[in-house]
Amino acid sequence: PQEHTLAVIKPAAAKEHKDDIMQKVKDAGFTISKIKEAALTRDMVAHFYKDHEGKSFFGDLLSSMTEGPSVIMVLSKENAVEEWRQLMGPTDPEEAKNISPESIRAQFAQDILSNAVHGSSTKQQALENIQYIFGEIDID
Ligand code: CMP
Repeated sequence: PQEHTLAVIKPAAAKEHKDDIMQKVKDAGFTISKIKEAALTRDMVAHFYKDHEGKSFFGDLLSSMTEGPSVIMVLSKENAVEEWRQLMGPTDPEEAKNISPESIRAQFAQDILSNAVHGSSTKQQALENIQYIFGEIDID
């Protein structure tokens, strides 16, 4: 069965590496069910990252995610949530370069904060985030 996940190319990477990242998405066999380019607002970012509220990097995260347009996508595939996480690689690009050199973060992240891409952590979070960004889910 098809599964859906929310994927975001963060502003710095959207500016520098959008075409390369989109190519890797397609090569990995994802269907891009929805896509839009938009600057996320601080409220939207705070909503996505509510689990990180209070962490030392939260302010920097809000700033970096709102500094320009992001590319926001619904990616569809069997096991999409986990497969997108694999394709992103670990949060920290230094770790990504060691254990997953073909991953997007290994190849295109600047550092642990500006780490090129975001993805939903769980199927439940994916549904919630897709609904939040795109409204009613009419993908299936
Ligand atoms: P992401 O996978 O989008 O989800 C949470 C984000 O917080 C993460 O990518 C990074 O952008 C950021 N982040 C996580 N840990 C750190 C850290 N130790 N220092 C700075 N930023 C971080």
